Amino acid sequence: MALHVRSPLHDRETIEVPEKVSHLSKPFNGTVGSAKGDEYLISNNIIDLLPAEKEYSLAQSTNHWKVTASVYEDLWRKRSLTLLTGEDFPIEKEKELLLEWVKPKAGSTYLDVGCSTALYARTLKAAEPKSSLVALDFSKAMLLEARLKAEADQTDMYFVRADGREMPFFGKTFDGVVLGGTLNELTDELKVLFECRRVMKDSGVMFMMHLIKSEHWAGRLLQESAEWSGIHFWSVDDSNELFERAGFTVEEQFTRGIVCFTRLKPV
Ligand SMILES: C[S@@+](CC[C@H](N)C(=O)[O-])C[C@H]1O[C@@H](n2cnc3c(N)ncnc32)[C@H](O)[C@@H]1O
Repeated sequence: MALHVRSPLHDRETIEVPEKVSHLSKPFNGTVGSAKGDEYLISNNIIDLLPAEKEYSLAQSTNHWKVTASVYEDLWRKRSLTLLTGEDFPIEKEKELLLEWVKPKAGSTYLDVGCSTALYARTLKAAEPKSSLVALDFSKAMLLEARLKAEADQTDMYFVRADGREMPFFGKTFDGVVLGGTLNELTDELKVLFECRRVMKDSGVMFMMHLIKSEHWAGRLLQESAEWSGIHFWSVDDSNELFERAGFTVEEQFTRGIVCFTRLKPV
């Protein structure tokens, strides 16, 4: 299925991205554009819809380094939940929960926001090859690494370089939106949550994994020192207030250590 995106410069203009751009075994380089004449580069299948470079926090900047992208999943992501939950929490358990809550369907389209190496998007696509996946991040280094991993996994998808605060999609495009650990790193989390709600169908589902405030003094001390780099932590109640303000209602939720898993539905 071709992907229809919204022009980053002309709100009402559609840009059609041909399906072959999602076929990762064939490198695609070229441009796409709207009827108004604005053009965007596709380089190695990555669709660059970021009109201008943004200002990044320290935590966000490190995600733009090639070295972070290349070690992120194998060195950190696969171990992170065991460290952060304080119990044996292999990545397979997280993937099972993602699939159980999202239940990807043939013909449906899902968006992975702040995808990094697109762990969630690859998991959904592998489980339902007839679904369509869009993985979005503003880090080119992360998208390149995600592209490599997705090609190796044979999980075709679209990679979009864009800002979660201004997503280049029309309203009610997606059947599901997933965010794995991204919320804590956002500069303007409410704006991104509003965008998630806008681009999601009313029948859609949102899978959220984020980190909450530690209840232990040592954990709090560590979290406070991380805040200066641009990483934020909320209590569960404050997180839920954010979700509700953005137009979601909590359907399911549980915490393990400082990790919180939430299934959200549009109100
Ligand atoms: C903690 S990582 C996410 C990890 C990934 N979702 C996973 O499950 O492994 C956060 C990612 O969000 C991206 N990011 C942060 N703010 C963003 C924004 N405003 N727009 C797009 N991407 C953003 C960063 O570049 C980084 O790759």
